[in-house]
Amino acid sequence: MKLLLLSASPHKEKSSTFLLAQEVLRGAKEEGASCEILHLDNYKVFFCKHCEICHKKILKCSLKDDVTMILDKMLGSDGIILASPNYINQVTALLKALFDRSAHFIHCKRLEGKYIAGVVTSGSGQNKEVLDYMAYYGHTCGAQYSGGVSGLQQFGEDKKTEAFKLGKQLVADIKDKKQYPQQLQFIEQGKQHFARIIKLRQNDWVEEYKYWLAKGWL
Ligand SMILES: Cc1cc2nc3c(=O)[nH]c(=O)nc-3n(C[C@H](O)[C@H](O)[C@H](O)COP(=O)(O)O)c2cc1C
Repeated sequence: MKLLLLSASPHKEKSSTFLLAQEVLRGAKEEGASCEILHLDNYKVFFCKHCEICHKKILKCSLKDDVTMILDKMLGSDGIILASPNYINQVTALLKALFDRSAHFIHCKRLEGKYIAGVVTSGSGQNKEVLDYMAYYGHTCGAQYSGGVSGLQQFGEDKKTEAFKLGKQLVADIKDKKQYPQQLQFIEQGKQHFARIIKLRQNDWVEEYKYWLAKGWL
């Protein structure tokens, strides 16, 4: 089982959020998972230009940076841990930029069958909106959300324990193919919405339309 940790703090190895995320990894590894870590700040992630090439030709992009490599790694993982400090009640711009560049994942629900976990730290410890947004991102790409852990920048042992348990939960969800009915309902609604759009734009978004046909979703 392969997990991918996307760590979105510019503090990289010294990031509090990353330290908390490492506890998630410790829990996951104890259950047999392997994990790759990407500090997004080590990579070039340009802003989406909304050229729509990725909808016409799947995973092709007009921008020459590291995003296709990162998206490929997301596709190759069973579970993705999103770790970001809270920047004004949001993920960092770096992580948001990556999300924006993955619009094809949204159109074609490319994270379907995968599970997401969220990790956030902040000065206030008030991180619900950020975790909710990570869960929303996962759902909009078709993934279910195993849960999130968040705390203060100087988090305590209680948070480490919570994070460790979350790592185990993530692995258990992947192994059991856990179904969260409310989440699946939300994901299905999103899919129905895109079924209409993909049909409407079939002459423009040729490869995405073909993808939907091949999946038997239309
Ligand atoms: C641009 C910016 C915006 C921030 N916004 C918030 C915020 O809205 N609420 C909060 O509690 N902390 C906020 N913080 C503080 C960070 O979330 C906090 O220091 C975090 O734990 C840093 O994590 P890191 O070490 O993983 O980078 C902000 C920090 C920066 C640099």
